[in-house]
Amino acid sequence: MPHRPASALSRRTLLRAGGAAFAAAALGGTGLAAPDAGALKAGLAGPTPVTAAGELVEVELVAKERMLRILPEPAGPSPLITYADSFPGPIIRMRKGQRLRATLVNGLGEHTSIHWHGIRLPNLEDGVPYLTQPPTKPGERHVYEFTPPDAGSFFFHPHCNTVELLGRGLAGVLIVEEPDAPKVDADVVCLVKDWQLDKTGKFGTFMTDRGASRAGTFGSVSTVNGAIEPVIEVPANGDIRARLYNIDSTRVVDLRVEGAEAWIIAVDGNPLPPRPLDGWPMGPAMRIDVLFRAPPKAGQTLRLTNVYSAEPRPLATFRAVGPSLPNKRFKPRALPASAIPEPDLKDAPIIPMAFSATAVAQSFDAAALPGLPYADALCLSAKTFWAINQQSWPEGGHERLPPPLVTLEKGRSYIFELANLTPHLHPIHIHGYTFKVLSSDARKVVPHHADTVLLEPKERLRVAIKADNPGDWMFHCHIIEHQDTGMMGYIRVA
Ligand code: C2O
Ligand code: CU
Repeated sequence: MPHRPASALSRRTLLRAGGAAFAAAALGGTGLAAPDAGALKAGLAGPTPVTAAGELVEVELVAKERMLRILPEPAGPSPLITYADSFPGPIIRMRKGQRLRATLVNGLGEHTSIHWHGIRLPNLEDGVPYLTQPPTKPGERHVYEFTPPDAGSFFFHPHCNTVELLGRGLAGVLIVEEPDAPKVDADVVCLVKDWQLDKTGKFGTFMTDRGASRAGTFGSVSTVNGAIEPVIEVPANGDIRARLYNIDSTRVVDLRVEGAEAWIIAVDGNPLPPRPLDGWPMGPAMRIDVLFRAPPKAGQTLRLTNVYSAEPRPLATFRAVGPSLPNKRFKPRALPASAIPEPDLKDAPIIPMAFSATAVAQSFDAAALPGLPYADALCLSAKTFWAINQQSWPEGGHERLPPPLVTLEKGRSYIFELANLTPHLHPIHIHGYTFKVLSSDARKVVPHHADTVLLEPKERLRVAIKADNPGDWMFHCHIIEHQDTGMMGYIRVA
C-alpha cells in the first residue's frame, strides 16, 4: 500500500529495473568502489546493481518471461522469469535508513506479488496474496513501500506458484548496508541456485509427488549467479565480503572458500560474532555473509565449494585481479549490532510447532507403488503431503485461508518449539520477524538471529520472538515443494 511522504519526493532517485535503461545514481557513502565488479563478469549480463543517494530508492520490477542463457551452446537460451533483463537481477543496494518504493509490474499470465524475505516490515507490505494484499493480476501494478529497519543481505520473490516462478528465476536481491560497517575492498553477491533444465535448455518438471513428499525435486544444473562455475574477480590481496545466498528451492548447501581463511560475519543478514566458516548448512532461502582475504597476486584463485554432499562440488572460482593491495592485518570485525527487539524469555509461553507428514501420506510409500495413481486411489489430495500442528494449508493456493496456527498477544515474547517429526530437513521461515535461535535437543546451537532455521530430522529447536509487529505472518518450510503441499500456515499477532 503506497504511503507517500511528500518530503521524500524531492530527493528521490528513480531507478528502473524492468527496462533496458538503468539510471544508477552515485554510490552515496557506501564506501564501495565497484560493488559486484567481479560478479558482473560472471555469466549472462550479470547482476544489475541499483543504488541511490537520496532518502527514497525507487525501483520498478517487471515480472515477465525473458529468454536468457543458462546452458552453454549448443543448448538454447531458457525461458526464465525474472524481474529484470538479466539473471540475477536486480540487486538493490540501499543504506540503512533509506526508504524503498518498489513497483511490481505484472507481465505474467497469472497473478503474483512480491514477498520481501527477512525484512521486519509492516504487514501490508509483506506480499502474500489474499493474506496481506489482493493478488496483483496480469497487467496490474502494485507499489510496496517501507524502510527496512535492519541492515543485511535480504532477497525477494513471489509467494504463489513459487515452485515454478522461483524455479524459473523470479527472485531479486535487496542489500541494506550498515552506515558504519568495517571497510572491505569488495562486496560480492553469490546466489547459489540449481535449474531444472534438459540438454536443450528447456525447463522440466519443478514438482513431483515423489520429490514433494520427500526431500524435494532437485535441479539438474548448479549455478552461481546464473552461471555454471563462474569466475568471480576480486581485487588481489583485498578483503572480500561475500554475501552467499541459497536461493534454490530444494537443495541444502554447506559452503566453503577453499584456500582461504573465511569467517562468517552475518546470518540471514544479522550480525554474528565472527566465526570460522566450517560447517554452516544452509537450506533454501538461508544466507551468510563471509569475509576472506583474496589471494595476494593477480591470477591466483580460491574456490567456492559445496561440501554438503559426500562429493564436494565446486561452484565458483574467485580470481585475484589487479595490482596487489597493500598488506594489512586480516582481522574480521563484528558488524554493528541490529535493533531486533530482545524477547523476554522468563515470561515467554512455549508454543509447540510440529512439522509432520499428513496422516494419509505417511501411510503409503510411493516407491513401493510404482506407477499407481496413489493419490487418487487414497482420496488424498495429490498436493498435500505435509502439515504444521496437523493443519495443512488447503490445496490450490491461498484463496481459502485456514485459521491462524496461533494468535499471539502483541508486545509479549514467545518461544516456538519447532519439532521435526519427519526424516527430512526443513528450513523453517517466519515472515515479518527475526528469530532468536536458542537451543536444540540434537546439537549445540550457536546463538544467532535468523529468519529461516534449518530443522534437522527429528530435531526439536527452540526459537524466540518478541511479538511487536502486528498482523498475519506466514510461517512455512522454504523447501518450496513442501510449502506448496501443506507445510505452511500463519501466525496472528494482535
Ligand atoms: Cu522466502 Cu514465505 O518466504
Ligand atoms: Cu520442508
